[in-house]
Amino acid sequence: MASKRAFIFLGPPGAGKGTQAKRIAKQLGVPHLSTGDLMRDAVARGTDLGKIVGPIMQRGELVSDDLVMKMVEERLAQPNCSGGCLFDGFPRTLAQAEGLDAILRRSGFGQPVVVDLDVSHDKLLRRLTGRRTCSVNGEIYNIYDAPPKVEGVCDNDGGKLVQRADDTAEIVQQRLAAYDRATKPLADYYRSQGVLQRVDASASVDDVGRALLGIVMGAQS
Ligand code: AP5
Repeated sequence: MASKRAFIFLGPPGAGKGTQAKRIAKQLGVPHLSTGDLMRDAVARGTDLGKIVGPIMQRGELVSDDLVMKMVEERLAQPNCSGGCLFDGFPRTLAQAEGLDAILRRSGFGQPVVVDLDVSHDKLLRRLTGRRTCSVNGEIYNIYDAPPKVEGVCDNDGGKLVQRADDTAEIVQQRLAAYDRATKPLADYYRSQGVLQRVDASASVDDVGRALLGIVMGAQS
């Protein structure tokens, strides 16, 4: 077993990367590193980074590679990433993928395990416009398919459920276009390295989770 391993969940907005990454990172015992969550946190705290990235995210565009790489490098330098991590929403461009390869080599990681969560765009609008997230613990719900027991309230801690600002139908189209243009080609990049695996992410949350767990645990053994 490689002592340090990076796991990468690729896939379009709404594929289920965050839903699955939260669970699987716990099972693997590695941190879940979501560049979207890191940036939303910066926006919420009103930091200099947050002031720059907030309007870009609100338009459904990608944040510049320089800013993203700096943020990821700082996060990876923290001690709890020394044994590996699970990336969700990163890398998203070829430049980010090449930058990550260089960081992983420098830091003594083995080859990453990359899984493409494959789902057709026509399923994603319902998933994204129906998503609600707990403002306290980040638990993800869907008002259509995975609602909380009490409307607007997290089952686990009673936190208020909120809708992401970029989950409107109009912005979702921008995000999907950015995905098609910049991120979809990464599947070929990782396929050519022989590290890409694919999961049918149109299946149920539990079935997708089982398929992903099989892949990541297989890579650990
Ligand atoms: P980010 O936060 O990364 O968002 P995203 O990639 O658009 O992905 P999402 O979080 O929307 O979807 P997900 O796949 O995690 O789905 P989820 O599990 O929540 O990025 C946001 C923005 O930040 C970007 O637009 C960009 O501006 C910026 N950014 C972030 N990273 C960047 C980077 N590296 N470079 C440049 N810019 C960057 O599920 C969605 C819904 O579907 C939920 O309601 C869930 O309950 C439901 N669901 C999940 N799985 C299933 C299933 N199997 N069946 C039915 N419903 C399901």
